[in-house]
This record gives sequence, C-alpha cells and structure tokens, in this order.
Amino acid sequence: ADYETITVETDAQGNAGVTLITLNRPKALNALNSQVLNDLIEAFAAYQADETQLCAVLTGSGEKAFAAGADIKEMSEKAAADFYLQDFFAPWTSEIVKKTRKPWIAAVNGFALGGGCELAMMADFIIASENAKFGQPEINLGVAPGMGGSQRLTKAIGKSKAMEMCLTGRMMGAEEAERSNLVVRVVPHDELLGDALKTAATIASKPPMAAIANKEMVNAAFETSLDQGLIVERRIFQILAASEDKKEGMAAFVEKREGKWKGR
Ligand code: HXC
Repeated sequence: ADYETITVETDAQGNAGVTLITLNRPKALNALNSQVLNDLIEAFAAYQADETQLCAVLTGSGEKAFAAGADIKEMSEKAAADFYLQDFFAPWTSEIVKKTRKPWIAAVNGFALGGGCELAMMADFIIASENAKFGQPEINLGVAPGMGGSQRLTKAIGKSKAMEMCLTGRMMGAEEAERSNLVVRVVPHDELLGDALKTAATIASKPPMAAIANKEMVNAAFETSLDQGLIVERRIFQILAASEDKKEGMAAFVEKREGKWKGR
C-alpha cells in the first residue's frame, strides 16, 4: 500500500521477517496528525496480517525527531467537544497496541515528545540513539498527556521521575532514559537503525507462536495481579507445549541443529 505520511518496507534492508515503518513528515518533526494515525493503523494491521513478518521497527525520518508530539496545529482547531465526542487518541491504543500481537520495537532517533514519547512507549521496547530526547511537555500547552504518557511513563520510570517530567515538561536525554529503564540501550546515532533491525531480525527468526506468546505473557504482568498473571503464563505455556514448533525446537536441541519453524 501507498501511505501519505509514513513509509513501510517488508523484509527491510534484507532482514527476513522484519517490517520497517518510518514516520515521514520530517518538516513538521514527524508530528502526529490524524493522517499519521490512519496510516499507522493500516500499516500495523497489514504487518499483523502478513504471515511472513514477525517483528516491526518504528522510527522517524530526518535527523532531528522520532516524533515531536501530536500535531499542535491540528489540535489547536479542535474544541473539547470534538476531543470528547470522537474519543480522540483512543484508536492509538485500541487499534495499534491491542491489535498488534506480534512484537515491535521503537527506534528513537531524536525528539520523542508528548504523543511521540507516548507512541514510543506503546512499543514492546525502545532502543535510543544518543540524540534521543524524551518528554511530556503537554503542560506547557495547557493540557496533559492524552495517549498514555501519565500511565506508561509512570510504570516505566516510577512515580517521582514521571511526576517531575510531567509537571516541569522537561526533556530527558538518552543516558538518563537508559538509567531510568525507559529504554533498553543507547547506541551511536548512525548505528541506531542497524541495531534495531538486527534485534528485530533475531526476534523474527524465532518460532512465531512462541514470539507472540512471550509478548502476551510479559504484557500480562502489567495488566493483571501476580496470581492472574501466573495463570496466563501457565496456560499459554501449556498451549505452546502442544505446538509442532515445540516438538521441533526440542528435537533440534537434542540433535544439535537449528530448528526449522512451521509457525504451528
Ligand atoms: C506541529 C510541530 C510540532 C508539533 C514541531 N513542529 N513540533 N508541528 N505539532 N508537535 C513543527 C514546527 O512548527 C516547525 O514547523 C517544525 O516542526 C520545526 O520545529 P521548530 O520548532 O522550528 O524546531 P526546533 O526549534 O529545533 O525545536 C524543536 C522542538 C519544538 C523543541 C521539538 O519543535 C517543540 O517544542 N515542539 C513541540 C513539542 C510539544 O509540545 N509536543 C507535545 C505536543 S502535545 P514550521 O512550519 O513552523 O517551521 C501532545 C499530546 C497532547 O503530543 C495531548 C493533548 C490532549
């Protein structure tokens, strides 16, 4: 498909099973307007449906930004009733996060502010370049996070830091983001995409059901009690134990060879 505000490459740069999605409004620092949302919903749905792909990477085009936030120019024209009646921002979570059961990584190459920070935090994990800058500066616009920032940032870095970030609107650099467990690791700017694609290729080489199951289990830790989470874990484990890829994976280990996955 052709998209207006993003580009999509399957088997990206020769990495089998890796879909690269790039936010492509560099002149507006990849600000997230309605068209970006619609394009991302379509691209993530296509990624989810494509059985040849097993890990996606989301990044921003241009040197400066992953995404500098929801599009302020678009939002400035909307009234409270528009936001409320359209349940503005809901599709990010309901359409992109909930319906994408396969893994995806955010490769944050610069500013990830407001909605940009929130979009990065929707990913399964974040890899940052040394230029990355995270923040929830909505308070400076007379508003507050609207796509999960107050919740996901708090879960990621804890109450004190999240509270200070939201109340001051300050930016957090890559080094502090790593120290605060917001990102997996920081890499030199020109190695970011290569590192993210290589990590995605490792994931894409795994048995698909197991990849999806591992994601589902870790997410359960965020959304349920320990007791319920442990039940989710055991049930999914038991389902995987009945898969052909479980038989193959264990046989391959015993026979000292690589597994050949069927995705069943
Ligand atoms: C629309 C944006 C934008 C945004 C940048 N641009 N951020 N357009 N929405 N969020 C545009 C600028 O208007 C400008 O276009 C171009 O991108 C380059 O930006 P500059 O400001 O000239 O660049 P620079 O001086 O380097 O500053 C970079 C920056 C700054 C620090 C990232 O752009 C900035 O503060 N942006 C806003 C960050 C922000 O507040 N994000 C949160 C948004 S609210 P023109 O055409 O003018 O040259 C949100 C959730 C809201 O995300 C929830 C509410 C309910």
